[in-house]
Amino acid sequence: MRTVPLLMALDGNAGLLDGLARALPVERGACEWRHFPDGESRVRLVGGCAGRDVLVLCSLDRADARFLPLLFLADTARELGARRVLLIAPYLAYMRQDTRFAPGEAVSARLFAGYVAGRFDGLVTVDPHLHRFRRLSEIYPGPHRLVHAAPLLAAYVREHVDRPVLIGPDSESAQWVAAVAARAGAPYQVLSKRRLGDREVEVSLPETARWAGHTPVLVDDIIATGRTLLQTVAHLQAAGLKPPACLAVHGLFAEDAYARLQAAGVQAIVTSNSVAHASNALDLSGLIAAATAELLQTTEGIS
Ligand code: R5P
Repeated sequence: MRTVPLLMALDGNAGLLDGLARALPVERGACEWRHFPDGESRVRLVGGCAGRDVLVLCSLDRADARFLPLLFLADTARELGARRVLLIAPYLAYMRQDTRFAPGEAVSARLFAGYVAGRFDGLVTVDPHLHRFRRLSEIYPGPHRLVHAAPLLAAYVREHVDRPVLIGPDSESAQWVAAVAARAGAPYQVLSKRRLGDREVEVSLPETARWAGHTPVLVDDIIATGRTLLQTVAHLQAAGLKPPACLAVHGLFAEDAYARLQAAGVQAIVTSNSVAHASNALDLSGLIAAATAELLQTTEGIS
């Protein structure tokens, strides 16, 4: 009889790890990651993994710091006899760099997805930022499963927001806003955005006259610098609408983004636990567990 997979996390996200360990037939494995004084990483897989499937949970925010140690872990597991090594990366990094915006610039989305696909036997991820690449399979050749957080966002809206109107700040957000609005039974509007720099965006004015008495709910996949949401919040405030709630799948909160949003007079800032953060209120463990179980089953015999 085959032993159950080992589940371990490279770095943090204890809440999600616990949820997955409860929801999946797995045994908890362990690994260690620390830095030597010179900054190089020491990675250790604790305990044996010969003949076992190894599931590594590692969200890829801060990918530049985490990815090399993650490869050390995956390759060590393989050297020690792991049968398959699968990655559960709720946030998949670099997806927004999906074209060569300037001559000579790396199309990091394609490159990074290729690096992951080359080193793991399968990937589970949550709402990757698909824009110019319409499907992850265009850049990720290996077995994978996508989780969509829309049901969780919609449940939050239904349970916590009075007379919601959903607002997507840019055309990319239309896919998420439409899915959440349909499930929440709420109207929605999608704005347009022009990015002028890393920390500068121009978001179009919402049609606010129709929404007096509604509570605006801003829905986006990612909060990075927070500038997209901050400018949309400012438009809504100028129009005299109620304080909005801000919902996002992945809360990266670069620099002082969280403090700025908190200070902007919003009603709530809510994210999923794809990236561990104080704003996490949407637990992905059930959805990720189901996708992981399916991936394990469908890739059985592929390796
Ligand atoms: C990009 O189109 C994404 O959907 C988000 O709107 C974007 O990443 C948010 O970035 P920031 O928080 O830096 O404005």
